[in-house]
Amino acid sequence: MMRSESPVTQQDADDNDFLDTVCAALRQHPRSIPPKFFYDAQGSQLFDLICTTPEYYPTRTETGILQRHGAQMVELIGKDCVLIELGSGSATKTPLLLQHLDSAAEYVPIDICEPHLLQSTARLQTMYPEVRMHPLCADYTRMPALPESVEGRGRHVVFFPGSTIGNCNPDEAVALLRHVATLVGEDGGLLLGVDCKKSPAILNAAYNDAAGHTAAFNINLLERMQRELGAELDVEQFEHYAYYNAGLGRIEMHLISRCAQNITIGDETFHFEAGESLHTENSYKYNAQEFQRLARAAGWHLKTTWRDADGYFEVHYLSRRATEPHHLPQRS
Ligand code: AVI
Repeated sequence: MMRSESPVTQQDADDNDFLDTVCAALRQHPRSIPPKFFYDAQGSQLFDLICTTPEYYPTRTETGILQRHGAQMVELIGKDCVLIELGSGSATKTPLLLQHLDSAAEYVPIDICEPHLLQSTARLQTMYPEVRMHPLCADYTRMPALPESVEGRGRHVVFFPGSTIGNCNPDEAVALLRHVATLVGEDGGLLLGVDCKKSPAILNAAYNDAAGHTAAFNINLLERMQRELGAELDVEQFEHYAYYNAGLGRIEMHLISRCAQNITIGDETFHFEAGESLHTENSYKYNAQEFQRLARAAGWHLKTTWRDADGYFEVHYLSRRATEPHHLPQRS
C-alpha cells in the first residue's frame, strides 16, 4: 500500500527571494550569500556527486556510523516516532533508520528542491510502504509548519544528518536548534550529524576534489543567476576557492574574480576587482566539547554520541528531556 501524500509546498517567502538576496549580497562589502541557494536541481545533483568523491569523507563516514548503530538509534528515538528530516535531498542515509521503524511511524522529509524531494520520497515509499510519508517542500531555515496530519501522532524526532548544521555560524546554529526544540515539543528528540575538527590537509582536500565537482557546485551559483535572473556575467572569469580557516574552525568557500569585471542584473551593475570574493559558504567543524556547549545553549540534552574509529564524524542523539539515561560516547 502506498501511503505517501502529495507534497505540500510552503511558498511563504516571496518568490523574489533569490533575486533580492543576490542583489543585496552583491551590494555589500565583503560580499557573501547564504549557501541555501546552491540547491536548485543542478546544484542538488552536483552535491550528490560531491558525496561520491574519495575526498569527501563525511557522507561515507556518517553512513558507516548509521549502518552500525541505526538499530540502537531507533531504539532510543522510538520505533513509532514521527521522523522529520531537514534538508532531506536524496535521503540516501534515511533507509538506515526507516528499516528499523514500525508501521505506526511517519516520515516528514523537508527539502527546498521539489524534484529531489519527490524523487527521493517516491523511492523511499516503495522501499517502506508501511511508513506514512508527508513530503514538505520548504526552506527549513524558515521553520515551516508541520503537516496537520502528524499533529498528535508519535514522538517527534528531527533527523538532521550530513553536518548541515555546520553551514550555519555558531549563533545561527543555536537559533536553529532552539527552533527545532520548539518544533518537536517537550518530548521531542534530535539525531544530528556533525563533522569534527581534523587535519587541514584532509579538510582542504574534501572541498577541492580532483574531479572538480565541488568547484562545479560553487560555480553553479553563478550559472543559476544567469538562468533564473538573466544575470550578465562571465562564469569563466570566476574561480572556486575553498580552504580551512583554522582560527575560526571552518571551511570557507568563495568565488574569486579572476579580473576586474561586472555582473549586471536588470538595470543594476556590480563591479568586482581582480581577486575580489563572493563568499558562498562556511562549513563549521566542531569537537565534542564545542558541540555539547552549543547544544546546551539551545536547550538540548546530549544523550549519546556515536563516532567512527578515526574520530572524523559524530552522530549525536539529543533529547528535550534531561531524565533519559545517559550513554557514554561510543567508538566503532
Ligand atoms: C551540505 N553541507 C553540509 C556540505 C558541507 O560539507 O558543508 C555542503 C558542501 N559544500 C561543499 N561541499 C559540500
